[in-house]
Amino acid sequence: MKYSALKGVEDIMPPDIFLWQRIESEARTIFHNYGFQEIRLPIIESTGLFIRSIGETSDIVDKEMYTFADKANRSITLRPEGTAPAVRCYVEHNLNTLPSPQKFFYTGPMFRYERPQKGRFRQFYQIGVEAFGSAEPSQDAELIVMLKNLLEKTGIRELNFEINSIGCEACRPDYKNALLAFFQDKLDGFCPDCCRRYSVNPLRILDCKVERCIELRQGAPAVTDYLCVDCRNHFGELLGMLNIMDVRYALNPNLVRGLDYYTRTTFEVTSEHLGAQKAVAAGGRYDRLVKEFGGADTPAIGFAIGMERLAALLKEITAEQAPAPKAFIATLGNEAEKKGFLIAAELRAKGYWIEQNYGGASLKSQLRKADRINAEVVFIIGDNELKAEKIQWKNLKNKGSGVIEIKDAESVLKAGC
Ligand code: HAM
Repeated sequence: MKYSALKGVEDIMPPDIFLWQRIESEARTIFHNYGFQEIRLPIIESTGLFIRSIGETSDIVDKEMYTFADKANRSITLRPEGTAPAVRCYVEHNLNTLPSPQKFFYTGPMFRYERPQKGRFRQFYQIGVEAFGSAEPSQDAELIVMLKNLLEKTGIRELNFEINSIGCEACRPDYKNALLAFFQDKLDGFCPDCCRRYSVNPLRILDCKVERCIELRQGAPAVTDYLCVDCRNHFGELLGMLNIMDVRYALNPNLVRGLDYYTRTTFEVTSEHLGAQKAVAAGGRYDRLVKEFGGADTPAIGFAIGMERLAALLKEITAEQAPAPKAFIATLGNEAEKKGFLIAAELRAKGYWIEQNYGGASLKSQLRKADRINAEVVFIIGDNELKAEKIQWKNLKNKGSGVIEIKDAESVLKAGC
């Protein structure tokens, strides 16, 4: 019986994994510089956590969650995103008692039962950040600038930053009413999802990707025209800061996001090089969620980057070589193989990636293997070398070669001979 990976689920292997590791390492450095600390959140949570935060009528909760009953018949869900678990963690550990803001990042797999296609998976990885405690627009600006820095540091250019404010509980009801009035006589033309959204969450009609719905919403009232004074000032200040920080953005009043917890600022980073699934990263404010989960009234904001999409973009533009062994130790005969084993262990302890021969392959096939795995140097030990305590070396890159004392093997690697 042969098994294959499940639909929409991928193995991430070399050489791609090196790109992933580089992204993660650059993210860690930048997050450290901005004071974001790592948290490792569970992959499973109570189903209710996601229903209450993302929203019962959202696509994620309605259609996409991996939910099952555990052996004690509790309803468990594989996390579809990281914000709700981060809020649960913040409240559960009373992190509001620590100096504010508390800033965190996480990396790991998320699960959504979506229709798989290019850039859309059922298990995908996010790098996410969440900052708790500041309602100031400077906190929003900090996050967006940090995201821009990180994406640029990885080498990606030509990204579009789209930004919007969807208001708060004071101003959103007026906007909802305006939308309901605008869409009232268009209902017949909408897709079945939007017909349902009309009664449960009309803002989400603005997010629909169906061609006919896009046409029907032309001329719909813009949320930014309905913001209360506080929300308008907040948004204005944020945009002012982004201008100062040289972040080029486009205002997109249709950017309402598919998760219900957002308030005020929402943003998305897209790339035209990604096809239909073009959002590389997205996020926004969720000033009510901590309180809704029983915590103190704590404003918060975050974003998440889709790793597969970022890696796909990078793969297109980088000619980066996968790392390769520093040396391959070719040996002829039992005694030489044992000696080779010792030399390999010593060089590895000094920090080099060393590959070695296992068993009785011919020298020719060992050299071929060294070449195939892209080793920089080959060491060769046979009977003669063993007797003389010497080792032959060949640099496969610059074709240099020579013989040295075994004890000096490292000098060949250091000098890049
Ligand atoms: P989201 O927009 O659902 O937001 O996901 C963020 C990013 O994850 C997307 O922009 C995309 O790059 C990636 N992504 C989402 N679904 C898939 C999928 N099926 N396959 C591949 N990549 C995917 C959130 O998850 C929020 N928790 C972000 C946030 C953090 N808001 C505040 N804090």
